[in-house]
Amino acid sequence: MAFAHITGTGSALPQRILDNAGLEMIVDTTDEWITRRTGIKERRIAMIDKNESTTDLGALAARRALEMANVPANEIDTIITGTVSADRIFPSAACMIQRELGAENAAAFDVSAGCSGFIYALEMANNSIKAGMAKTVLVIGAERLSSLVNWQDRGTCVLLGDGAGAVVLRASDVHGGILSTHIKSDGRLWDLLYSEKGNQPPPESLNGLATTPFHLRMEGNRLFKQAVPSMAHIAELALQKNGMTREDIHLVIPHQANIRILQAVAEKLKISMDKFFTNLDKYGNTSSASIPIAMDEAFRSGLMKEGDHVLLVSFGAGLTWGATLLRWSMSPG
Ligand code: COA
Repeated sequence: MAFAHITGTGSALPQRILDNAGLEMIVDTTDEWITRRTGIKERRIAMIDKNESTTDLGALAARRALEMANVPANEIDTIITGTVSADRIFPSAACMIQRELGAENAAAFDVSAGCSGFIYALEMANNSIKAGMAKTVLVIGAERLSSLVNWQDRGTCVLLGDGAGAVVLRASDVHGGILSTHIKSDGRLWDLLYSEKGNQPPPESLNGLATTPFHLRMEGNRLFKQAVPSMAHIAELALQKNGMTREDIHLVIPHQANIRILQAVAEKLKISMDKFFTNLDKYGNTSSASIPIAMDEAFRSGLMKEGDHVLLVSFGAGLTWGATLLRWSMSPG
């Protein structure tokens, strides 16, 4: 049976930075509150007039991953995009990105699994490679959550940001790459985080922000309490399944929602926070994009080398959560 190896990573962030001081001008909040409760200092906000739609960001991240992997777009068999903020209800972001890339031989579709979208997409990609259905799969996480945010709701607008990340997976007989994936959902708790109809305009200071008629609603406190045990449990499942212990893990790349969630997960797993890659201070929570952006940054800054065991863990709306254990198979540079 073939193994799915990551042979390229890429990411794309909007140019515009909205820091906590900028948010103080929009809602009743403070840099101190946001930093202490979340660890977030700034986030990126996509501007449509700067060609930063979900499709644009996803395609740019994908191009960078394909370039690293040295794979021409016409060799891609499948494009899977994890997203909750595609530019249109249909067609999928994946199909729109396909056109941008000229990936004429690919089948393309989206996966909607809240902030776990990338891990769910990776699971689909891994299974299709293992089953011999595809040899080259492009997996993308791309989001423009600023378009869904209620900019009058200080409980949510301070948390989120825009961006995209992508990986190229190639089939190989060599043991390694994705060792296992686990995904879980609990639809009984869908109403802890969802989108609803709303029509508040975006703040004037964010002129150029394209919004949708839908807003995000969240019960942050209850979500927090679900996130910690769910992420810790599924991470442990991934270790057990591979006969590994926490000492075998070189790097954890978690969904970047809140530094306090990650500290609590690290404590539960008894894995040092030093092994957790975080960049949520710069980008906030970018939903499905957070793990592939973090993976790209971690790899390009030399934090992962061939043979390292890397654990990806996610949690999001649905509720959904998941874990992927990788034996990294690319050398830096
Ligand atoms: N600035 C200042 N005060 C704020 C605020 C903001 N941006 N947002 C909320 N508050 C206030 C609340 O109104 C509340 O005030 P009160 O005590 O007078 O009622 C107080 O801060 C505490 O609110 P609470 O919601 O209990 O805070 P918290 O410690 O749970 O932190 C979150 C809030 C959202 C940061 C936290 O619950 C969280 O991160 N949850 C998980 C969210 C998440 O990860 N979602 C995505 C899942 S993928």
